[in-house]
Amino acid sequence: MNLGAYQNEIYLQGLADNLPAFTTDATRLAELAREVLAPGPFWYVEGGAGSGATVRANRSAFDTWRIVPRMLRDATNRTTATTVLGTPMPAPLLLAPVGVQSIVHPDGELATARAAASLNVPMILSTASSNTIEDVAEANGSGPRWFQLYWPNDPDLCISILNRAAKAGFTALVVTLDTWTLAWRPRDLDQSYLPFIRGTGTAIPFSDPVFRGGLERSPEEDIPSAVLKWIPLFTGTDRGWSALPFLREHWDGPIVLKGIQHVDDARRAADAGMDAIVVSNHGGRQVDGAVASLDVLPGIANAVGDRLEVLFDSGVRSGADMLKALALGARAVLLGRPYVWGLGLGGQDGVRHVVRSLLADFDLTLALSGHRSLADLSPDSLVRI
Ligand code: FNR
Repeated sequence: MNLGAYQNEIYLQGLADNLPAFTTDATRLAELAREVLAPGPFWYVEGGAGSGATVRANRSAFDTWRIVPRMLRDATNRTTATTVLGTPMPAPLLLAPVGVQSIVHPDGELATARAAASLNVPMILSTASSNTIEDVAEANGSGPRWFQLYWPNDPDLCISILNRAAKAGFTALVVTLDTWTLAWRPRDLDQSYLPFIRGTGTAIPFSDPVFRGGLERSPEEDIPSAVLKWIPLFTGTDRGWSALPFLREHWDGPIVLKGIQHVDDARRAADAGMDAIVVSNHGGRQVDGAVASLDVLPGIANAVGDRLEVLFDSGVRSGADMLKALALGARAVLLGRPYVWGLGLGGQDGVRHVVRSLLADFDLTLALSGHRSLADLSPDSLVRI
C-alpha cells in the first residue's frame, strides 16, 4: 500500500476547491479542537499531571534527535507493513487506548473503531471506554483490535472483562500499570471535571454481569450508586510483580505491559514472560516532572529488545517522530491525543484523516531520508544534538 499517496489525493481534490476538513499537521490539532470543545473535555484530553513538565519533556525530547537523510538509496519502492504480536498492520502504528471518547464526540469509540478498521490500523480499546466491548467490536468488524486493562480490584470482575474481550475478538491484552490511581491534574481539578463521576467512561463495568450482580439497582436506574461502587474497584490499589501470573492464567493471547520507564522494570517484564512492553508515561498525565518517554527508549530497547517487543508512546505527532522512535528501538508506536482531536473535529472521518496524514507523512519521511524498509532504521539514521 502506498501510504504517501494521501498527499496526491489531497492536492487533486484541491483542483475542485475541496480542501481537507482540517489540518494535516498534528501539532496544530489541539488548537483547532479548543475552538469546538467545551473547556472540560478539552482540558481532560490536553492536560497533564501537575505543572505539565512531563508533557513538555515528551515533545522536546524528539527535538534532541535529528534524522540524517541519505541519498541515492533506491527508496522508490518501500515497505512499511509489519506484524506485531501476530497482528498485521500497514505501518508500525496502533491507536493508543484512550478512555471516555464520548466526551469529544457522541459516537466515541465506535467512530474510532470504524476509522481504524477502514485503514487496517489496530485500535486498543480502553477499559474506560464510553461504549461496551461488544459494541466496539461490532463497529470494528474484521479490523485488528487489542484490549487495554485497568485491572479491577475484584478478581471475578477482572476475569469477566477478560473473557468478554477475548470473546469479542480482541487478540492482545495491554495492561496499564501507571494509572492505578489518578494523578494530581490541576486542569481537571480547577474545573472539578472528571467524566467517570458522571457515569461516562464506565460502559464496560456497567454492562458487566459480575459488576451488575453486586448492585441493588441497575446503573440505568441509579447512576450515583453504580459510580460509588466503580471508584474503589478501579482506583487506589497498586500491585506487585507477583500478581502477573493471574493474568496469564485468564488470558490466552499475548500480554503487553504499558507504562514502563525504567530498564530494570523492562527486564522484570521480560523475566516474567511478558510478550511486550509499551515504553510510555501516559502522555505525561501521571507523574509530573518525569523523564521524557523517548529519553528512556534507547536504553530499554538495548536491554530487552531481543527478549520482548518494545512499543512506544508519549508525544508522537509526526512521521519524523515515528521514524525517530523506531530508529531508537521501538517495534511500533502508539498514537494518542492527535486521533482524539480528529474524533472531536470530525468523528469517524476526522480520525481517519489524522491517521492517514500520519501514515503518509511517515512513509514520505522514511523514503526521503533514504530508507526502503523498517529494517533499514537504526540509531545510525539519527544524530543526537
Ligand atoms: C489516555 N491514555 C490512556 N491509557 C490507557 O492505558 N488507558 C486509558 O484509558 C487512557 N486514557 C487516556 C485518555 C486521554 C484523554 C489521553 C490523552 C490519554 C494514555 C494513552 O494511551 C497514551 O499513553 C498517551 O496518550 C500518549 O501520549 P500522547 O502521545 O497522547 O501525548
